[in-house]
Amino acid sequence: MQSVTLKDKTFIPYITSDKILESVKEIAGRINFELVNDKPIFLVVLNGSFMFAADLLKEVTIECEISFIKLASYHGTSSTGTVTEMIGLTEEIKGRNVVIVEDIVDTGITLEKLVNLLTKKEVKKIKVASFLLKPEAYKKDIKVDYVGIEIPNAFVVGYGLDYDGLGRNMKEIFVLK
Ligand code: IMP
Ligand code: MG
Repeated sequence: MQSVTLKDKTFIPYITSDKILESVKEIAGRINFELVNDKPIFLVVLNGSFMFAADLLKEVTIECEISFIKLASYHGTSSTGTVTEMIGLTEEIKGRNVVIVEDIVDTGITLEKLVNLLTKKEVKKIKVASFLLKPEAYKKDIKVDYVGIEIPNAFVVGYGLDYDGLGRNMKEIFVLK
């Protein structure tokens, strides 16, 4: 694997495609076993999770539904500042078992907001699957049930993850040099 340059930054090879797919299969195996009676709805958080979700869900064999959401931040005039909303969710998720599918959990701020939004919608149970986790940065109490690979506090791109919109299409993961 060659290093890649995206805009002003150079990234070096970090996680191979083989290693990625191996750990995705491991997660799918656990989900197939543990959630077999849940009829879950997988909520894929766009944009970054599209590649992980595609690979993961090809290996998920239990009865399930798949939906895609995006989080939107609105800078309102109220004192609460930024309000995050879920857009694109058309399914009725009240009373459902939901599996959040994330590309990466860093500080966990995004995940916490999403869990709060889902809780308001009275879902039955929430599980979290994130391909990457940065344990040194993650300070929240929400359990990340399924983690592909734990990485140190570094900036990575590829496999859905971007730097300024670029790099999402790469099938390997690269780290900032
Ligand atoms: P949070 O800090 O857990 O809320 O993560 C917020 C978002 O930052 C993630 O969903 C990613 O979109 C992005 N992010 C965090 N770490 C990285 C990284 O290493 N590369 C690319 N995007 C990242
Ligand atoms: Mg994300």
